[in-house]
Amino acid sequence: MNNNSEWISAGYVTEGVSEKIDLVKEINRLKKEKNAIIMAHYYQVKEIQEIADFVGDSLALAQQAAKTNADIILLAGVFFMGETAKILSPDKKVLVPDLNAGCSLADSCPADAFEAFVKQYPNHEVVTYVNTSAAVKALSDIVVTSTNAVAVINSIPKETPILFGPDRNLGNYLQGLSGREMILWDGACHVHEKFSVEKIAQLKKDHPNALLLAHPECKKPLLIMADFIGSTAALLKYSVENKSKEFIVATEAGIIHQMQKASPEKLFIPAPPMDSTCGCNDCEFMKLNTLQKIYLTLKHEYPEVYVDEDIRLKALKPIERMLDLSAKLKL
Ligand code: 13P
Ligand code: SF4
Repeated sequence: MNNNSEWISAGYVTEGVSEKIDLVKEINRLKKEKNAIIMAHYYQVKEIQEIADFVGDSLALAQQAAKTNADIILLAGVFFMGETAKILSPDKKVLVPDLNAGCSLADSCPADAFEAFVKQYPNHEVVTYVNTSAAVKALSDIVVTSTNAVAVINSIPKETPILFGPDRNLGNYLQGLSGREMILWDGACHVHEKFSVEKIAQLKKDHPNALLLAHPECKKPLLIMADFIGSTAALLKYSVENKSKEFIVATEAGIIHQMQKASPEKLFIPAPPMDSTCGCNDCEFMKLNTLQKIYLTLKHEYPEVYVDEDIRLKALKPIERMLDLSAKLKL
C-alpha cells in the first residue's frame, strides 16, 4: 500500500514528468519488465488504445481479465472495469490510472438503496448491468453487458419475474426486445442521455445516406431514429460489415478511432450532445486517463484496485454466470 498522502488525496500519482521522457517507449519498457498488460476500453483516447495490448468493450475486457497470464493488469477505462478485473483475477495486481475515473451510471445506484429496492421484490431475478459497483454486483443473480443483455434476459424462464438495474434506457430497450416486463431501477448515463435528437435529425438531413448507430444507453426517442443499436463492439462490427459509407455515431466518441482504423474510406460523424459547441460527446471519466498517468501508474504500481473478499466472492458468482452463458452462446 502506498503512503504518499498527496497521491492518496489526488487519486493518482501526481509526480511531474520531464518532457524529454518518451512515454510510449517507457510504458512499453515497464510493461515488459513487470509482465504487465494494458487493457483499454473503446472510449479511451486513441494514444491509449494504440499502446494497449487489448482494446475492447466491457464484456471483452472482463473475458480477457479472466484469462490473462500477466502479473499486473492496468485497466484504462473506468473504476468498475478495474473492479471487475480484480473480482475475476484476485491474485493479480490490478491498477487504474486515476481513481477519480468513476461512472455516472454506476453512481446512480448506491448499494444500500439498491439492496432496499431488491428486498421489495422477493422472488425476482436480479439482473444488473456491468456498470455498477462490486457491492451492487454482490446483490445480483446475474450480470449483463450491452453485448449479452438480450441473450441473458431470454435465458431466464418466462415465469420468473425480473428486476433490472441500473440503466433505465437499456432496461426499456430490453423490455421492448424481449417482450418481458421488468421492474427497473431509475438510473442513467449522463453521456448517453445528453445526445441532441434535434441536432442528430439535422445531421441526418445533411447526410441523407448516413446510417445512425446508437448505444442502448441512449434515450428512447434517439433509439427510435437509429438504424442500428448495439454495444460498442457491436457498433464497430456493424460499421465494418455494412456497405454504407457514412455513419452518425451516437455513443462516446472514443469508439470512432477503431471504426476509422478498420474502415479508413468511410466517414464517421460523432453525434452531438445538446449542450456543447464541440461536435462530439466525451465521457469525462474515461478521458481522465492519460499516457502520463499510465506511465506513472506502471512505474509506482499505484493506484491499485482492492475489493473486500466477502463482496468479491458474492460478486464473482453473477459475473461468472454471465461469462459462462456468453461462452456457451459464443458471444
Ligand atoms: P460497452 O459495454 O458497450 O463497452 O459500454 C460500456 C459503457 O460504459 C457504455 O457507456
Ligand atoms: Fe459510465 Fe456513461 Fe462514462 Fe459509460 S459513458 S463509463 S456509462 S458515465
